[in-house]
Amino acid sequence: MFVAGATGAIGQQLVPRLVAAGHDVHGMTRSESKQAMLYELGAVPVVADALDPDQVQDAVAHAKPDVIVHQLTAIGAIDMRHFDRDFALTNRLRTEGTDNLLSAGQAVGVRRFVAQSNGAFGYARTGGPVKSEEDSLDPSPAREMRAMVAAIRHLEQAVLGADWTDGIVLRYGAFYGPGTSMAPGAEQFEMIRKRKFPLVGDAAGVWSFIHIADAAEATVAAIERGRRGVHNVVDDDPAAVAQWLPALAQTLDAKQPMRVPRFIGRLFAGEVGVVMMTELRGASNAKAKRELGWEPAHPSWREGFSTRSLPRAITEGVRP
Ligand SMILES: NC(=O)c1ccc[n+]([C@@H]2O[C@H](COP(=O)([O-])OP(=O)(O)OC[C@H]3O[C@@H](n4cnc5c(N)ncnc54)[C@H](OP(=O)(O)O)[C@@H]3O)[C@@H](O)[C@H]2O)c1
Repeated sequence: MFVAGATGAIGQQLVPRLVAAGHDVHGMTRSESKQAMLYELGAVPVVADALDPDQVQDAVAHAKPDVIVHQLTAIGAIDMRHFDRDFALTNRLRTEGTDNLLSAGQAVGVRRFVAQSNGAFGYARTGGPVKSEEDSLDPSPAREMRAMVAAIRHLEQAVLGADWTDGIVLRYGAFYGPGTSMAPGAEQFEMIRKRKFPLVGDAAGVWSFIHIADAAEATVAAIERGRRGVHNVVDDDPAAVAQWLPALAQTLDAKQPMRVPRFIGRLFAGEVGVVMMTELRGASNAKAKRELGWEPAHPSWREGFSTRSLPRAITEGVRP
């Protein structure tokens, strides 16, 4: 296995599971200093920059994998008013990075190529509240989100269009759990704790979440037995912001979130922030359950968000 993004939030959950399942894993990083982490996770470290086609070609040629897993992102802290700017590097990893990995994979003839996409923010904001893989991506995203949705389209079309391999696209829900921004002490939980994450307008936007350990389990299933196509990797419980945000505030023993009208929300979080709070659609995991034989261990964010379950989840990173 060749895992690009092996040191990230999902990579750190995925690599030990692949190793425990008996796979030889090569994990890619840009940093010499993260090689030790990869050894600890059980992978052979490979230092390469995903945006340099020659480095990627050499790294993949050296590893000679059967499967490439693409988990490259560079999201960091997001200012909703400058979504395009903050997603610019991730967009490059989803376009150039995907093309580089596909081209390197084709040269060695990988039989499967599994790539991270997004099922939380990309679906069209019309029709019912919960979307399947058959439903279309947003044809007219908020202006600041256009480049991100275009990069997702590029990644998905490139992976599914590669007729020389089994291309599998995993549309993950919003990650929570250890190593993500939705964990005790991390950015979004702390914003909620400090009442800096208000309910905007009717707060009817529907979010689909996924615990990071469940995302990794689904990825192992896709690597081992997936077929070409797209799978939503989300929990069983898509929920409106008006439901999950007050519930999460209560779980965190925080004051209930403030309510602000749309125009105030737009001032502080831009059009993207307002869309996320009021118009998003959720996703169904029926196909992933059926075709990957996968079930989330955290079927609902209601229990998954609990601070009792999140610290415990840290130990779930490595199977015994
Ligand atoms: N669906 C979701 O909700 C979703 C999806 C993605 C991320 N997130 C969240 O976003 C937050 C931050 O994530 P993040 O994007 O900063 O990622 P991250 O979790 O730190 O992972 C990024 C991975 O991509 C690798 N990478 C980035 N640029 C690279 C390049 N040019 N060449 C080679 N490897 C490269 C990094 O490797 P090195 O740094 O070792 O080089 C790292 O392994 C986390 O809270 C995460 O949960 C959420």
